Amino acid sequence: MKNVILNNGLEMPILGYGVYQIADANECEQCVYDAIMAGYRLIDTAAAYRNEEAVGRAIERSGVPREELFITTKLWVQDAGYESTQKAFAKSLARLQLDYIDLYLIHQPFGDVYGSWRAMEELYRAGKIRAIGVSNFQMDRLADLIVHNEVVPAVNQVETHPFCQQVESGSYMKENHVQIESWGPFAEGRNNMFQNEVLVSLAEKHKKSVAQVILRWMVQRDVVVIPKSVHKARIIENFEVFDFELSSGDMEKIAALDTQKSVFFSHNDPEIARSIGSVKFDI
Ligand SMILES: NC(=O)c1ccc[n+]([C@@H]2O[C@H](COP(=O)([O-])OP(=O)(O)OC[C@H]3O[C@@H](n4cnc5c(N)ncnc54)[C@H](OP(=O)(O)O)[C@@H]3O)[C@@H](O)[C@H]2O)c1
Repeated sequence: MKNVILNNGLEMPILGYGVYQIADANECEQCVYDAIMAGYRLIDTAAAYRNEEAVGRAIERSGVPREELFITTKLWVQDAGYESTQKAFAKSLARLQLDYIDLYLIHQPFGDVYGSWRAMEELYRAGKIRAIGVSNFQMDRLADLIVHNEVVPAVNQVETHPFCQQVESGSYMKENHVQIESWGPFAEGRNNMFQNEVLVSLAEKHKKSVAQVILRWMVQRDVVVIPKSVHKARIIENFEVFDFELSSGDMEKIAALDTQKSVFFSHNDPEIARSIGSVKFDI
């Protein structure tokens, strides 16, 4: 496993397992357990996924020492603000049955993120969180957060895959010591990602799957990546990306697939700010 080193010196595995849209608690627990058994050490959840308890049970069942795991969870918009963040963090910790979180992210760039950040800085300094970061922050919002606070976000988790490569924003993050982390590495299969001719031909060339080629491409670009699958065979397959290498020519072919556009939605669309900003969960 390759690790990246975050801006505070903390090591983070470059490949992990994400649990978005695994709503069934038993299924989620089993998947996370299977992932840990397959060798994953980074697990990515969120309060909004409503499966932190299942993740916590899987961690306990795995028997893997806590310090070997890297657990990420996220703060949802309804809990933005200083006091709400303190309360939401305590609830996430309790649901996960943990006494610290490795990486805590502001899930969306909406609401009182500055109040949240102050609470997160305090929790970080108190040792309850080992690194703090953000998700879905466009570069202007990231710059603003950096300029007006003491702790620079360690990570920005953003949609990143062959059709939306984040080349410019990735460079900006690198210059500012913010680690890019990909969500949706397969774009959830949209735009026929798994049937894409270029990706299929590279998979054939390397005797690997399209999923493995995509994940390998991320690893070679130093992008942290957290694919999701509910199938044990795919969970294992997605972890087996450290035994081959894409050539610079292969990397260029994938680079040419970039459309520089989200296949989901844009976080600077005002309608998205309104609609995501008003989603409330029973958490
Ligand atoms: N911060 C955010 O706003 C945000 C947003 C979205 C996601 N995320 C995080 O990023 C993680 C990954 O993103 P995602 O879950 O949206 O989508 P994804 O990982 O791009 O795609 C998951 C889809 O790909 C399929 N798949 C997985 N491995 C495969 C393989 N080897 N071969 C063929 N199909 C495969 C899965 O199907 P099966 O499950 O049926 O195998 C599922 O339909 C999430 O779980 C979450 O932790 C964060």
